[in-house]
Amino acid sequence: MLTKADIVGRYLPNHLVFGEQAEAFAPSNIALCKYWGKRDKVLNLPVNSSLSVSLAHLGSHTQIRPSSSGKDEVFLNGKSLPLEQAFAKKVVSFVDLFRRDQVLPLVVDTRNNIPTAAGLASSASGFAALTLALNRFFSLDLEDTVLSVFARMGSGSASRSIYSGFVEWQMGQQADGMDSHGIPIPVFWPDLCIGLVKVSTGQKAVDSRSGMQRTIDTAHLYGSWPAQAAGDLEKLHAALQSQDFEALGATAEHNAMSMHATMIASWPPLVYWKPESLMAMQKVWQLREAGIPVYFTMDAGPNLKLLFQQKHQALLEAEFSGLEVVTPFAVD
Ligand code: ADP
Ligand code: DP6
Ligand code: CO
Repeated sequence: MLTKADIVGRYLPNHLVFGEQAEAFAPSNIALCKYWGKRDKVLNLPVNSSLSVSLAHLGSHTQIRPSSSGKDEVFLNGKSLPLEQAFAKKVVSFVDLFRRDQVLPLVVDTRNNIPTAAGLASSASGFAALTLALNRFFSLDLEDTVLSVFARMGSGSASRSIYSGFVEWQMGQQADGMDSHGIPIPVFWPDLCIGLVKVSTGQKAVDSRSGMQRTIDTAHLYGSWPAQAAGDLEKLHAALQSQDFEALGATAEHNAMSMHATMIASWPPLVYWKPESLMAMQKVWQLREAGIPVYFTMDAGPNLKLLFQQKHQALLEAEFSGLEVVTPFAVD
């Protein structure tokens, strides 16, 4: 059985060269067709292909530098984390894939400008930024597809955060997963807006990884998911090609609700929604009935992500107080 270290090892030189420090930014991304379920838990290979849009300036900034204290140090948003804590452990074991048995204590200093572990895809931007920073720190000069494969091994959704704009993560077929990575979709959609409805930004009780495992293990309904996802992926590609906003929004919302149906059908039930999440959904449905084309998607958390066109931004900001609007294709 192949391990992550086997895969990364193929791309490392015999002698690692490293500089003084390196840093990188990666955007978070929102899936319009979700990744939900793994066919290989070790390499993080998905059951289905997924499609997302990256969130421009929202994401993770990560810096790597040699540590002068003689041991690894992990900082999140300026705060030093105990190395035995899960967050730091995951970061250090990812760094170990590159450093291997070389004695090289490092500082990993990362900042998220989105809430961490709240269903706003911090694992996507976090592992993509870490991969990009490691690539620079060790002067590996890897291709984007390889970077996407590596990021995927940290967190599946991170495979898509190597790129901006629309991205498909093709599930691939190979046992080593080298064909399971993000591919940018060359579609530009300047008036597309994403509005974050922050119901709760606290850490969720069940992380995405455990949530999808519980669903696979216990939800009979999960059997219908791969076909739903495959059909939605086709519809999304068609909507992107024809720039059909309503088809894009409707497919994304249907896909998210189908994923949540499989979560709810798990045992114990996995309900990421809060009462305010449902209230926000109902408001979206009412607005649509009133003729405003607005749709939502939701991940493993209580927050909604609205999809709408720029001309409706002011109205939606008035309807959803505190709405944070991202324009993925805005030209600065
Ligand atoms: P989310 O919905 O935010 O993606 P997940 O449960 O998928 O929630 O993942 C949260 C985990 O992602 C964190 O516990 C941590 O392991 C990892 N993570 C989040 N931000 C970063 C970061 N900046 N650098 C490295 N790992 C991160
Ligand atoms: C609901 O990528 O966070 O957001 O691969 O176990 O780290 P791991 O899981 P993660 O799962 C994301 C699930 C999702 C859907 C999506 O982003 O496609
Ligand atoms: Co995640």
